[in-house]
Amino acid sequence: DFIEKSGYEHFMFKEIFEQPQSIKNCMQCRLDTERALVTFDELEDYKTEIINARRIIIVSCGTSWHAGLIGEYFIEKYGELSVEVEYASEFRYRSPIINRGDIVLAISQSGETADTLAATELAKAEGALVLCICNVVGASIPRASHATMYTNAGIEIGVASTKAFSSQVTVLALLSLYIGQIKEKIQPQTAAGLLTELSKLPSVIRKTLQCADTMQFIATELHNFYNCLFLGRGVAFPVALEGALKLKEISYIHAEGYPAAEMKHGPIALIDDKMPVIFIAANNDSYEKIINNIQEVKARKGMVIAIVAEDDTEIKKMADFIVEVPQVNDLMMPIISTIPLQLLAYYSALLRNCDVDQPRNLAKSVTVE
Ligand code: G6P
Repeated sequence: DFIEKSGYEHFMFKEIFEQPQSIKNCMQCRLDTERALVTFDELEDYKTEIINARRIIIVSCGTSWHAGLIGEYFIEKYGELSVEVEYASEFRYRSPIINRGDIVLAISQSGETADTLAATELAKAEGALVLCICNVVGASIPRASHATMYTNAGIEIGVASTKAFSSQVTVLALLSLYIGQIKEKIQPQTAAGLLTELSKLPSVIRKTLQCADTMQFIATELHNFYNCLFLGRGVAFPVALEGALKLKEISYIHAEGYPAAEMKHGPIALIDDKMPVIFIAANNDSYEKIINNIQEVKARKGMVIAIVAEDDTEIKKMADFIVEVPQVNDLMMPIISTIPLQLLAYYSALLRNCDVDQPRNLAKSVTVE
């Protein structure tokens, strides 16, 4: 056990710090910066179907579902293709309508989750082209799919998914550009710029991991609370969901993720000095709106923790705790913003004496319903 942890105290911590390498492995062979091209050899036989697709339906569970929500933003923006994201457990028990031109994309770290497998089999039986994103070679979901995009993140042991999640998001970022390229929807110059940026992801992650001490410090405050709210807009919304899930999974602090604009439709009623709010505010698109939300929380004495880009000027003046992350484009932002949240969950769980790698009642892979 000690050897496998390579001197780290917990698998989760080791896996968080492996992300520069796991992302590098995930991008290798797919990202050709010289020719400004994304390649997916595994999709070669299905290129025509992808070009003519009318919709992608993503099916997944847990953290993989959050990756799917991030993929929705990417694929709609860069692939100009409509995306629906479904909980596999809901999809399989509805009477889902799968039309001609629909592609079903299953996302599963383990490739064994019962609901995702059943959704995959159902979609295939209905005649859909079924693709999957998986971390375990030869697992059941890849075997039930027409083609598999492997994340190549290496084995993940910590029950709370970290490096598998970031590699799923990386595959989805690449896939969105791939779809944009084969449909000729993306300007070669735009693609070249985005790919050059993406190729820096491992080193940017390395830099982001330097926030570990800051997150440990913030956890000394946060671990005393019983509830916590995570807010973000746009592609930062699924990041908020993932941050909340990580915290509740391993530290047992009740946490909810919400789109920041929905705060006024409910969560605002809960805000007082016992409700810390974590803002994922590293994307500038909705900067002014996020500032308004922060003011609303401060006016109700809520403690504000904000993840901001390093060039931020305004939020720094308002938040109780600031976490600076490198300034990156929207394809990289979800990963860069999730890393501090993984560390925050980790340190909060340690301070609460929780079993980080084996949280109570949870399993790494849920192979039964
Ligand atoms: C379990 C794990 C989660 C994971 C989810 C889906 O709940 O504890 O970490 O996100 O299953 O697993 P999958 O292997 O399908 O991605």
